[in-house]
Amino acid sequence: MKRIGILFGQENTFPPAFIERVNLKAKELNADIIAEPVSIDKVVQGEAMKYQVIIDRISQDVPFYRAYLKNAAISGTAVINNPFWWSADEKFFNNSLMTKIGVPVPKTVILPSNQLPTDTKADSFRNLSFPLDWDAIFAYIGFPAYFKPHAGGGWKSVYKVNNSEELYRAYNETGQLVMMLQEEIKFEAYYRCYCLDRKDVWLMPYEPRNPHHLRYIQDGSEIDPAKHKMLADTVLKINRALGYDFNTVELAVRDGVPYAIDFCNPAPDADVNSIGKVNFEWIVEAAANMAIRRALNHREGLNNLTWGDFVYAFANNEKIEEGMYDKSLMPNAK
Ligand SMILES: Nc1ncnc2c1ncn2[C@@H]1O[C@H](COP(=O)(O)OP(=O)(O)O)[C@@H](O)[C@H]1O
Ligand SMILES: [Mg+2]
Repeated sequence: MKRIGILFGQENTFPPAFIERVNLKAKELNADIIAEPVSIDKVVQGEAMKYQVIIDRISQDVPFYRAYLKNAAISGTAVINNPFWWSADEKFFNNSLMTKIGVPVPKTVILPSNQLPTDTKADSFRNLSFPLDWDAIFAYIGFPAYFKPHAGGGWKSVYKVNNSEELYRAYNETGQLVMMLQEEIKFEAYYRCYCLDRKDVWLMPYEPRNPHHLRYIQDGSEIDPAKHKMLADTVLKINRALGYDFNTVELAVRDGVPYAIDFCNPAPDADVNSIGKVNFEWIVEAAANMAIRRALNHREGLNNLTWGDFVYAFANNEKIEEGMYDKSLMPNAK
């Protein structure tokens, strides 16, 4: 018996639909697989969990769950997404990596937090020049610009600033957050794209300037096949480099070039009430198929996590290039 668990927080629509779909498919396939909500009553170091696969939708908000998942992974659970990589990752690094593998990203700098981190003093920052070289930073980024946390989500503390005064004002509101200043991409089209298992891509036309409930454009219009391929290839390249199993990428298209804006969403919105029925059907089906594949490929007691090309390149001291590794050498290769 292979057991697939889903770990979630306040979500009400995706987890039950996922469980129902996996169990239905398992029956159709005559596979000895069951899906259920993860249930935790104690966590003991080094003890294997009863789950071969866990879909993690919430550990970004619950450090206890992140520790639970690392303990599960080291005993062989295929945790989706890799909790070690997710812990290490943040948006500025993501952007930097894209510059190495040829994915266009807006020009971006990272800034020290406006307020001193707890338990530090001015002396903790003797390596920082004060003031920063703002003239050079502004000349590089330009205005308008986006000013947003390097590890954030849900549009929290995201500012659009039109000049240096607005930037300094916003900066003064950001406390201990580490912020990035980023070139604005004036786009002609915008997409949110699911990417599962570094192979299945689903593009959702998205209008971020609309009110929340009207952002996913669901007018049934089709994307031109050549454009579709170009966008999907970009999404795949990003996720293969980063190694995420379940992620969304936001692409802003300017002069036909897709710029990656926000591509570190390992527990992306999958609520039918925001993404709509058609997108929901896709993500439920694709997630169920991925979980079943991973359960069938599961190797008892071994590492069943996936890692990005970047990590492989780094570990082998090789130049970082997308697609350089033979995927058949990777854990859980298909
Ligand atoms: N560089 C940018 N150019 C244009 N729009 C941007 C840029 N950065 C962010 N935005 C807009 O702000 C929104 C929120 O920023 P995002 O980076 O996605 O943060 P979050 O992780 O909080 O969702 C995006 O969906 C996009 O509409
Ligand atoms: Mg976003």
